Amino acid sequence: MTPNQETSAKRVLRSARGEALRQAYIDDGGWEKVDGWLYLKALRLTDFIDKLQDHFGVLGNICEIGLYFGKYFIFLNLIKRINEKVIGIDLFESSDWEKRFYDNLGAWPRDDGDPMIIRRNSLEVTAKELLEWAGGPYRLFSVDGGHSCEVALNDLRLAHEVLADGGVIMVDDYFDPKFPGVSEAVNRFYLLSENHRDTVPFLITGNKLFITTSGHDERYREAIRTALDEDEVEVWDAEMFGHRLTVIL
Ligand SMILES: C[S@@+](CC[C@H](N)C(=O)[O-])C[C@H]1O[C@@H](n2cnc3c(N)ncnc32)[C@H](O)[C@@H]1O
Repeated sequence: MTPNQETSAKRVLRSARGEALRQAYIDDGGWEKVDGWLYLKALRLTDFIDKLQDHFGVLGNICEIGLYFGKYFIFLNLIKRINEKVIGIDLFESSDWEKRFYDNLGAWPRDDGDPMIIRRNSLEVTAKELLEWAGGPYRLFSVDGGHSCEVALNDLRLAHEVLADGGVIMVDDYFDPKFPGVSEAVNRFYLLSENHRDTVPFLITGNKLFITTSGHDERYREAIRTALDEDEVEVWDAEMFGHRLTVIL
């Protein structure tokens, strides 16, 4: 395949409307108008990782556990490729919160299918169901639901069970002192021999920890470091659970 053919093959993966909305959400400030918890660097790096997955040929679907008013989920829905499924899971304990989520999501409508929203406690969701709903594994999986150790560990395990090769899990709040349960969950997962899937953290930015399957971490890191302007952002290498990772502040 020539580079031009390759570029056009990648372009057909995505709908023109989805791409226009993606740009409006991230570049024209759409994301700032939705209440919730999200930092611009996490959004920009998610956008970049999504594009790297096109380049690396990583296939799969997209899921977020913990939607709140949809600030991150709306973006995850806008970056889906044609024929991919996007699944969102939340308790929606208050009907007012649920309405705000749907109102926000409705303001960013795609023309090629709606995401599937599951109103349920993630402790009652199984990996089998996740695979059935999407028709296969996941390339992007955001863990931002319950912040107790029990729920965060459950969600992290679920994400690992359905992760595609080269897929990325984004864990929110690992470094937030308000949520030690999230740190405990990730630490237990990596230090108590639970990580049968063999994944590694490769990036910390915007209050999220990014994890991928072993063997893919280095090429994500290299591409990220190459693309960054180190005069504009503070970047350095660190080590976590015995693996090198990139930190962007
Ligand atoms: C921190 S908020 C998510 C923020 C959101 N990702 C954003 O972009 O703003 C956490 C969400 O997780 C949901 N949640 C908490 N415990 C849950 C559970 N056990 N199962 C499913 N959702 C849960 C809450 O209802 C809440 O909407």
